[in-house]
Amino acid sequence: MNTNELANVARAMVASGRGILAADESTGTIEKRFKGISVECTEENRRAYRDLLFTTKGLGEFISGVILYDETLRQKSADGTPFAALLAKNNILPGIKVDAGTKDLAFCPGEKITEGLDGLAKRCAEYVKLGAKFAKWRAVITIGEGIPSMACITANAHALARYAAICQAGGLVPIVEPEVLMDGDHTIDRCEEVTERTLRATFAALAGQRVALEHMVLKPSMVISGKDCAKQAGVQEVAVRTLQTLKRTVPAAVPGIAFLSGGQSDELATAHLGAMNKIGGTPWVLTFSYGRALQHASLSAWKGSAANVAKAQSALHHRARMNGLASAGQYRPELEKEFGTAA
Ligand code: 13P
Repeated sequence: MNTNELANVARAMVASGRGILAADESTGTIEKRFKGISVECTEENRRAYRDLLFTTKGLGEFISGVILYDETLRQKSADGTPFAALLAKNNILPGIKVDAGTKDLAFCPGEKITEGLDGLAKRCAEYVKLGAKFAKWRAVITIGEGIPSMACITANAHALARYAAICQAGGLVPIVEPEVLMDGDHTIDRCEEVTERTLRATFAALAGQRVALEHMVLKPSMVISGKDCAKQAGVQEVAVRTLQTLKRTVPAAVPGIAFLSGGQSDELATAHLGAMNKIGGTPWVLTFSYGRALQHASLSAWKGSAANVAKAQSALHHRARMNGLASAGQYRPELEKEFGTAA
């Protein structure tokens, strides 16, 4: 892919009114999700579930790209079409998670470093052959007593930047995901301070590794109260604080920002995105790259039974549509009922 194509892919990933479906759960993570609906985590069940998601009629209207896991990129739909080809046929860009997960960071108790740089260029070359157009790497920053440390923030920023450079050199658009976890009882002020430090370090590292900002997508967490904080900030405050933090730290050359949902409820994740786009006036497109907040309703409707596929697909379609409207600044909570599903 030449630089023109990288720019085109990056822009297409964040086209207004469309966003990204994160369906790149590792085998361990999807096992946890399946446990919640009492479904056995076999390769065929994982394939069948992803098949259900990707064959949802009309998904391409609201979904610009899907992030896949290594196993999923090699799997096929029931009719024998490889998932990557099926998505491409529906005008959806196939992407691939390339990080190898998080490990404890040495000398930094309670903190994590994302691994997966070794051999990455070679893996990228294979993923390009399999049809991937973009990649994802998730770094995790934990808020707690005395953490995050600068050691953790800079190590993760450096890894994100090395990954992004390797992807761009190999023809994949990198999604750069520094996630500040919402676990804990910290206030929204603390989240804002940590998010600002994390994003500053990330963009400094990206510049240091010569990453082209025009050829990437940022996937941040929102500035939000800790899950267990007694005082939960409202939708408008989250929107205003998140925008303020991003404006301070994210260069205008980045084409788009696609948020993660991070454990927010489905409707709250949509409402926050909708509120930010109502405020507007940003140099970048603001959209979604949700995993749980897009799949939760669908997974619960499916319960592992072929008889529930249509219901599960309509639940996914509904959430994709609501988030598509939020990304275009047209979301109103009343639309949840108006376009509601039976699921
Ligand atoms: P959530 O939206 O469930 O946080 O997942 C997004 C993602 O891709 C995390 O890496």
